[in-house]
Amino acid sequence: MVQAILIAEYGKGDFMRKKVTVVGAGNVGATTAQRIFDRGYADVVLVDVVPDMPQGKALDMLESGPVLGSDGAIVGSNSYEESAGSDVVVITAGIARRPGMSRDDLLLTNMKIVGSVTAEAARYSPDCVLVVVSNPLDAMVQHAYKVSGLPSERVVGMAGILDTSRFRTFLAQELKVSVTNVSAYVLGGHGDTMVPLIGSTTVGGQPVSELVGAERLAEIVQRTRDGGAEIVGLLKTGSAYYAPSAAVVQMVEAILLDRKEILPCAAYLTGQYGIHGLYAGVPVKLGAGGVEEIIEIRLTDEERSALRRSADAVQELVEVMAKAG
Ligand code: LAC
Repeated sequence: MVQAILIAEYGKGDFMRKKVTVVGAGNVGATTAQRIFDRGYADVVLVDVVPDMPQGKALDMLESGPVLGSDGAIVGSNSYEESAGSDVVVITAGIARRPGMSRDDLLLTNMKIVGSVTAEAARYSPDCVLVVVSNPLDAMVQHAYKVSGLPSERVVGMAGILDTSRFRTFLAQELKVSVTNVSAYVLGGHGDTMVPLIGSTTVGGQPVSELVGAERLAEIVQRTRDGGAEIVGLLKTGSAYYAPSAAVVQMVEAILLDRKEILPCAAYLTGQYGIHGLYAGVPVKLGAGGVEEIIEIRLTDEERSALRRSADAVQELVEVMAKAG
């Protein structure tokens, strides 16, 4: 009897898998969709304006299922009907940086793109957690929050995990240890004003400042700041996507699996760290409800003012967007 009920419920779709929509089927979006499909714990909808392209990429990924053992569903679409009822929507739409372009050069073009796709996506998935990836990140997540009408805890930006991952990579290379031994946080905006917390960075439990000289550490911090541009310079026709998509998937997974994982993300601050009404990169607890808590870690005076400067830079972009309407 119980079994019969269970089967009946299953048949009705009550046990359906989680659903993730990825908006933008360029390199970041498609790689994000692929990583989620490969893991097999959510169905994926890949949306893009280019006719047939998201359908083609999604079908190609679907056809990898038998080899990978992934039973997930993945479809591509040029509209949002298929995305309805998503648990998580990832916004990667927008143009990418070209060599010599700063993230801020992208501001007004991507503001229009992110604004229109976010409004559509949020209309079809009013209960979703929105993860914004488009650049300039902090300004785009602020804009997406405004247009989506979603509560701020369900609108979050990806940058800190990527910046931290780059920092950890370079430190692990320097010290010839596993990346898993390097524990670090990069807060603040995604750009020149990012704030690596040297005081909280440890390698196998030892403070990094005892292992790497100040001058060399400053070089590694600078390479982290320029991490996005370094990849753009090498690729020439676009920006990074393998590390960015891995970072997005860590966030998606924390939300879908309600992991309550503490991760550096762009979150809406209402006085924390002395910042009001603005998105900034800070440690948050990420779970099924989105940003379930903003973690206020103790910062040095220098780190605190660097974080404020970073927020001021975001505020300037927000004002440029407000003037542009
Ligand atoms: C980067 C760009 C995508 O950091 O912002 O790689």
